[in-house]
Amino acid sequence: MFKIGVLVSGGGTNLQAIIDKIEDGTLKDIEIVAVVSNVADVYALERAKKHNIENIFINRKEFSSPEEYDAELARYFKEKQVDLVALAGFMRILGAEFIKEFENKIINIHPALIPAFSGKGYYGLKVHEAALERGVKITGATVHFVTLGADEGPIIMQKAVEVKHGDTPEVLQKRVMEEAEWQIYPEAIKLIAEGKIDTLVVG
Ligand code: GRF
Repeated sequence: MFKIGVLVSGGGTNLQAIIDKIEDGTLKDIEIVAVVSNVADVYALERAKKHNIENIFINRKEFSSPEEYDAELARYFKEKQVDLVALAGFMRILGAEFIKEFENKIINIHPALIPAFSGKGYYGLKVHEAALERGVKITGATVHFVTLGADEGPIIMQKAVEVKHGDTPEVLQKRVMEEAEWQIYPEAIKLIAEGKIDTLVVG
């Protein structure tokens, strides 16, 4: 079994997309062994619960520093023997120690075509606001490895989505999720689990 740990902070629709593809057999021999949130009572934890997946809120306030917090995340995922850490709407920047510890084993989904609308400050609706403000006609989503620079790691998969006249950030966000994010995140995980992504090649 290829074991995934998922980090969340919110609604968890990307987590749900992964769960669905495991349950319908598209993702074979892949298991989510833990879902960890840094925010209490988020719906993503509820989704995990509904599917009998171990889920836990780890509170930053209980740790004296960001490094201590990351160390606890690393300890927990190591105990669970995860092969891959998938960030799914996780709203914290992971520190260097954690990233080193899980080198080439952390992935993220970003709701734009990197390098557009990515990096520091580009998260959530802000990404779509920026895309609309710039007037791009095509946006999309990107799955990438997590390295030290925000959104700068090797790109694993991208999918384009049309921007339509009259789109609001919310409408565009929903289209990007439906047409790109929920499709390419499980697909990328499948390729990684099957050993088909060579980090040296994609880098
Ligand atoms: C998604 O737009 C994802 O691209 C970004 O954060 C959002 C998370 O949504 N990183 P959800 O919690 O998976 O519904």
